[in-house]
Amino acid sequence: MNASSAGILSDDPEPLAILTAVHSRLIGERDGAVADYIPELAKADPSRFGLAIATTTGACYSVGDAELEFTIQSISKAFAYCLALEIYGREKVIERVGVEPSGDAFNGIVFDPHTNRPFNPMVNAGAITVTAMLQDAAGDSALKLILDRFSEAAGRSLVVCENVYHSEAQTGHRNRAIGYLLRNVGAISGNCEPAVDLYFRQCSILVTANDLARMGATLANIGQNPVTGRQVYSVAAVRDTLSVMFSCGMYDYSGNWILDVGFPAKSGVSGGLAGVINRQMGIASYSAPVDVKGNSVRGMAAFRQLSDELGLHAFEWSNYGSQYLRARAPQ
Ligand code: DON
Repeated sequence: MNASSAGILSDDPEPLAILTAVHSRLIGERDGAVADYIPELAKADPSRFGLAIATTTGACYSVGDAELEFTIQSISKAFAYCLALEIYGREKVIERVGVEPSGDAFNGIVFDPHTNRPFNPMVNAGAITVTAMLQDAAGDSALKLILDRFSEAAGRSLVVCENVYHSEAQTGHRNRAIGYLLRNVGAISGNCEPAVDLYFRQCSILVTANDLARMGATLANIGQNPVTGRQVYSVAAVRDTLSVMFSCGMYDYSGNWILDVGFPAKSGVSGGLAGVINRQMGIASYSAPVDVKGNSVRGMAAFRQLSDELGLHAFEWSNYGSQYLRARAPQ
């Protein structure tokens, strides 16, 4: 693909060919292991592999198992954070959860030594705090609030997988411990159990790679679902969410990710990966085997190849960014 067509895909026959080539190059990849610390996740078939791109002009391209459902897991953290930013505003959210990379694992039991806050909303401690804030705001309707907003971003009705939720609720003692420590440092007030439970449900929402690509495209399109036209998230919340996804979305691999791939992304331990190319597209993959940091091995490799082939790195000379698309977007 030549550089002049980088980033504008809606009328382009090439994206499918590129996705197909990336998919067939990586289908034989055998590294990584299916996560089994949540017993229900261990049932995933490691051979399934789906890739999808959704553009801000409303096109969607996919190959492989892009319609296979899996639980969103930590990818939910970015979309829940966006919701909290919108409801509370940046200042109030930052008072409770920082925006610094932790350099630690997603389930690290570590708080910022200067502020006592969780480091950022992409690690479990920060995400549970964000979920607690959503619960404070919406009470018994908090799950509905989360489901409705995620569904609007995806453009279809999403539901919770009860089996995965129960499996995590029965085994998620580390997250419960984090919940109690959050209460101890004052990030959560009152009983932390309902917030941890809501976090388990939020992580158990079923999505496909196509859904995640469309959710990514909604963020890429500054909060407006490109297909339904609905403004799902506020412009300011999207800006802040993408910033934190960029610096913290891949946990203790985030620095390498920015250097190598160069656009915001968020991983989930069930094997999902969602990326956002500002004003251009959402990219998503599903492949269950993850590395020791909890990031999908095939997914990361696919994003790396797509970034190179489509010129998507934020600072790549061939990335024309918003100017390029805005100049050509249908009115
Ligand atoms: O909190 C957990 O352990 C899971 N519900 C989510 C972890 C996760 O997805 C980490 N990401 N790669």
